[in-house]
Amino acid sequence: MRKIIAISALFLALVFSGCNSGTPADPNVRIVPKSQSLTVKPGSFKIKNGTPVVYCSNDLQADAGYLAGSFKQLTGLELPVRTQESANAIILKLNEQIETPEGYTLKSDDQRVVIEAKTSDGIFYGIQSLLQLLPSQVKGPVRIPAVEIVDQPRYSWRGLHLDVCRHFFPVEFVEKLIDGMAMHKMNTFHWHLTDDQGWRIEIKKYPKLTEIGAWRPETKVGHMSDYPHKYDGQKYGGFYTQEQIREVVKYAQERHITIVPEIEMPGHAQAAVAAYPELSCFADSTLKPWTLWGVSENVFCAGKEETFRFIEDVLTEVCDLFPGGYVHVGGDECPKSHWQKCPLCQKRIKAERLKNEHELQSYFIQRVEHLLAARGKKLIGWDEILEGGLAENAAVMSWRGEEGGIEAASMGHNVVMTPGNWCYFDNYQSNYDNEPVAIGGLTPMEEVYGYEPTPAKLPDDKKELVMGAQANVWTEYMASEDHVEYMIFPRLSALSEVLWTNPEHKDYSDFTERMNKHYLRLTKAGLNFRVPVPEEMPGIQIFGQEDVEISLSCEASTAQIRYTTDGSEPGPGSPLYSAPIKVNLKNDITLKAATFLRDGTRSKTQTSLLKFRNFVPTDKPSLEPGLKYTVFTGPFRSFTEVGGTEKSTGTTLSVRIPEAARDTMSGWKLEGYLKIEKEGTYQFELTSACGSGMFIGDELVINNDGFSYGNTRTGNVFLKPGLYPVRINYFDTMYGCWLELKYKGPGIELTPVPEDKLFQ
Ligand code: ACM
Ligand code: ZN
Repeated sequence: MRKIIAISALFLALVFSGCNSGTPADPNVRIVPKSQSLTVKPGSFKIKNGTPVVYCSNDLQADAGYLAGSFKQLTGLELPVRTQESANAIILKLNEQIETPEGYTLKSDDQRVVIEAKTSDGIFYGIQSLLQLLPSQVKGPVRIPAVEIVDQPRYSWRGLHLDVCRHFFPVEFVEKLIDGMAMHKMNTFHWHLTDDQGWRIEIKKYPKLTEIGAWRPETKVGHMSDYPHKYDGQKYGGFYTQEQIREVVKYAQERHITIVPEIEMPGHAQAAVAAYPELSCFADSTLKPWTLWGVSENVFCAGKEETFRFIEDVLTEVCDLFPGGYVHVGGDECPKSHWQKCPLCQKRIKAERLKNEHELQSYFIQRVEHLLAARGKKLIGWDEILEGGLAENAAVMSWRGEEGGIEAASMGHNVVMTPGNWCYFDNYQSNYDNEPVAIGGLTPMEEVYGYEPTPAKLPDDKKELVMGAQANVWTEYMASEDHVEYMIFPRLSALSEVLWTNPEHKDYSDFTERMNKHYLRLTKAGLNFRVPVPEEMPGIQIFGQEDVEISLSCEASTAQIRYTTDGSEPGPGSPLYSAPIKVNLKNDITLKAATFLRDGTRSKTQTSLLKFRNFVPTDKPSLEPGLKYTVFTGPFRSFTEVGGTEKSTGTTLSVRIPEAARDTMSGWKLEGYLKIEKEGTYQFELTSACGSGMFIGDELVINNDGFSYGNTRTGNVFLKPGLYPVRINYFDTMYGCWLELKYKGPGIELTPVPEDKLFQ
């Protein structure tokens, strides 16, 4: 399949060389993901009530209906659907000459719009491009610019994953996301249906899976590191009936999206074994679906035949519900502690001459692969299925970095890339403190955009085994639909271009320019999304003079930035940023700013505390290298609480917690002097799990408080050459110490603060 793409890409390059060098001047022509080739021609085609949609093959009837329905929704126009070709029409036509199954051409002129493709998939993607040629915000007749588009996707697996176990989302919401995928030409929805915290799919033969397994007694409140753990006391759950599943499958099919169901095994099975305790190694009838996040030790017993009968029965019903080729069986994060103690698991290891519990897991997955193959399905699993030996025809989803994908492809297996750094949409989108609490990690839109799914180190003859990539949306910290949408969009727009558009046509600034129009489409689709915020707003900015100018910028170039300097919330009537803001800092000022898109959609509010402080270097001569640290007995809930009973003290040469002083449920103070060589503004970046704060003298310069897994916050400080007293307060509950301080300044690129600048 990928070979065909390569050949026809060459064909395209010859026919339309040079016509896709940039985004056209016509502001209506802003397609996301970017087409491989697009030429704007003179003229336009007027579409009004009664303009027919003509389909030339019965296979395209549903797509013609979808097009007419979309026009009605976006413009209010009624377009009749017909089979007779005519002038002044939108024509959908199959064309055997087009080589790639998902490729299409779209040609519009004064007379008509013609979309041609080899398959109805391609026609559907042509329709998506046509819908994106509509002007934003119109009702009534519209003009479509005359264009010639020749297009096809780079990858065949363009995926989005949704975890409906940690939080449950109803059918209507899943369908809304499927619409959001369709507008981005994404084609694979990975539905994570079972996990420790809930079983979400009705299985007729095992009713307790949803009677018991779909309901947990309560849910952890706040971040996992928020200690002591608090629970909300609310029974929580839900599940999809088989009838609802069939409805969603049909809805997705109409949008040319395949659903890959995931039934987790042998780990992430606490909800299942809570319903059927006999399927675990040590049956516990008091077990409930899990109320915490993380990895439960309550897994399926691999020693019992009963487990495999259960899996076979469940997968039989699952295969019946989902017509796609792949079934995902999880395979990740399966603790082996119960298997090590279970006589039946140990007996199986001996009987099957397996070396250890990893090979037992591999045995488990291989048996399941045979069950699936007998039902005409292929198995896909997380990269742990490589451990102990990969099942013969299994495809691998690489999530712990790219290595699993590289290893599997090198062995001749199909892979889907979902490495955490680029594809985990449960990571934060920025380091600003207005982001909703997330699990940790940082994956901004630009990083997603820069992802290259085919690893360079893969041998050329194995590269075609990379089917594509996928965004994973784990919902521990996303309880609401709005929140899920906020985490997905616009990062999915960036990923869609990674997966659709050949790298030579990709360019981030061109993408962000096209996004100006695309944001309006997201709003029209009723989707919540992260609106780019005003940048250059660290939490605290300390200047060396009273009169200063503040510059702001925003990635959305056609958006407005509005701001206040009295601490109030900026609104559409607040001053419009057009030039650097002049402020006098005799008194500290709270600057707040937000972005407003053309349709009024606004970003989250950015806040920056502006101060003038005349920091005077100390005249104390430098003594010893390193900072003094003190460890205090916790737990603490804020860096401001760190103090009290001292556990130990010592010296650290860098801003980190040395091995000897590492602990959980503790607090630390690092104290000493920072040497500055050149006058200027320094930006400090403090990263910690959990919370931390940095002071110069008694002045707080970075506030990075709260329960987190590695959040970073910044503070700007103007400093003259000399030695300054610094202190960092830090606390941790469960992660065992993650603390780092970086800085950049005059002549200094961002770097960990070097040891030769720290004294005590
Ligand atoms: C995973 O994130 N545990 C696949
Ligand atoms: Zn067992």
